[in-house]
Amino acid sequence: MDTIIINGTNDKAFKDAAKALRDGKLVAFPTETVYGLGADALNPDAVRRIYEAKGRPSDNPLIVHIAEISSLNELVAEIPEAAALLIDAFWPGPLTMVFKKSNLVPDIITAGLDTVAVRMPDNPIAQKLIKEAGVPVAAPSANISGRPSPTTCKHVIDDMKGRIEYIIDGGPCQVGVESTVLDVTSDVPVILRPGGVTLEMLEKVLGNVYTDPVLEIKGDIKPRSPGMKYRHYSPKAEMFLISGDPDPVAKKISELIMESKRKGLRVGVLTSRENADKYNADVIVNVGSVKHIEQIAAGLYDSLRTFDDKKVDIIYSETFEEKGVGRAVMNRLKKASAGRIIKADEEN
Ligand code: TXA
Ligand code: MG
Repeated sequence: MDTIIINGTNDKAFKDAAKALRDGKLVAFPTETVYGLGADALNPDAVRRIYEAKGRPSDNPLIVHIAEISSLNELVAEIPEAAALLIDAFWPGPLTMVFKKSNLVPDIITAGLDTVAVRMPDNPIAQKLIKEAGVPVAAPSANISGRPSPTTCKHVIDDMKGRIEYIIDGGPCQVGVESTVLDVTSDVPVILRPGGVTLEMLEKVLGNVYTDPVLEIKGDIKPRSPGMKYRHYSPKAEMFLISGDPDPVAKKISELIMESKRKGLRVGVLTSRENADKYNADVIVNVGSVKHIEQIAAGLYDSLRTFDDKKVDIIYSETFEEKGVGRAVMNRLKKASAGRIIKADEEN
C-alpha cells in the first residue's frame, strides 16, 4: 500500500486525510503526547485494521479521541463527578479517562470490556482532524506493537509506511510520553498508567487518587488496564536500569561498560546531561538535564529508538526521580528494561 505523507499545514491534503479517516481508512496524526494511529471508532472494520497494522493483541483496548465535550455524552453511560472536575481542569490535554461505556461503542474498541477510555487531545492538528472527520477517532500510539511510541513523523514513517493510508506530519510531540490513564468508574479514581497529567496534578483537583498496585509491585497481579501486561516501549537490545545516587550510578555504569566491552559487546548508555561526559561507551544518548524532567520525557522515545538505529547489543540507563512526569518516565524505562534494575551501591 502507498502511504501518503502530508504536512499538517497543507489544507487541501488535510481535508483528503480527514475524508479518508471518515471513509474507514487509517490516518496517523500528531498529538501532544505521541503520534496516534487513527480510525473511525464507530466502524469496526476500520478499527480491526488498526490491530493488524500494529500487530497489536486484540485483547488490548483502544482510546477514543474526541474534540468536543458533546461527543463524550454519546460514548459513555455516565460522567461521574470526579470526571467532570478533571474535564474542567485538564481537557483538552494528556489525560485519558476510563468510563462505563454506552451501547454505541463497538466491542472491538473495548476488547469486550464494559468500559471505554476517552481522551480529548490538545494538539491543534489532532483537534482539527477529529472535527473535520466528524467521527470519534480510535487511536493507539502509531508504533509497531512492542516498539517505543513515535514522537516524530520519522518514527511513524519507520514503523507504518506501507501499512496505512496517511501520515500527517505535525513536528515533534511536546509531552513525549503517553497520556495518563485514569479509571473514574470507582469511588476513588485509579491511575492505570502514569503520564502527562501527574499524580500531583490529579491530587490537587480530587484530593484522593489511587495508583494501580500493578504499577508498584512486581508479581502476579491481574492488570486492570490490559495494556499494562505487555512488554512495551522496548528497544531491541537488552536494557538495564542502574539506580542509586548520581556518583555511585556513574561509577557502576562505567564498570558495566568495561565489563560488556571485554565481552565484545557494543554498549549504549542513556544518561543525564550531568553525567554525559563520564562514560566511555560506543553510543551515548544524552536525554537532558535532571533539572528538566519534562525535556527528558519529550526526548525519551527518540533516545530508545536511537539505540536501535545504532545497533547496540546492550544498554545501561540512569534512573530518574519518581515525581511529577518522572513517574511516567520511570514507568516507561522499567517496561523498556523489563524490570531489570541494578542497585549502584550494592556490592556484587
Ligand atoms: O497519549 C496517548 O494516550 C496516545 C495518544 C495517541 O493519544 N495513545 C495511546 O494509546 O497511548 P495506546 O493504545 O498505546 O494505549 C492505551 C492504553 C493501553 O494501556 C490500554 O490497555 C488502556 O489505555 N485502555 C484502553 N481502554 C481501556 C479500558 N477500557 N480500560 C482500561 N484500560 C484501557
Ligand atoms: Mg502504545
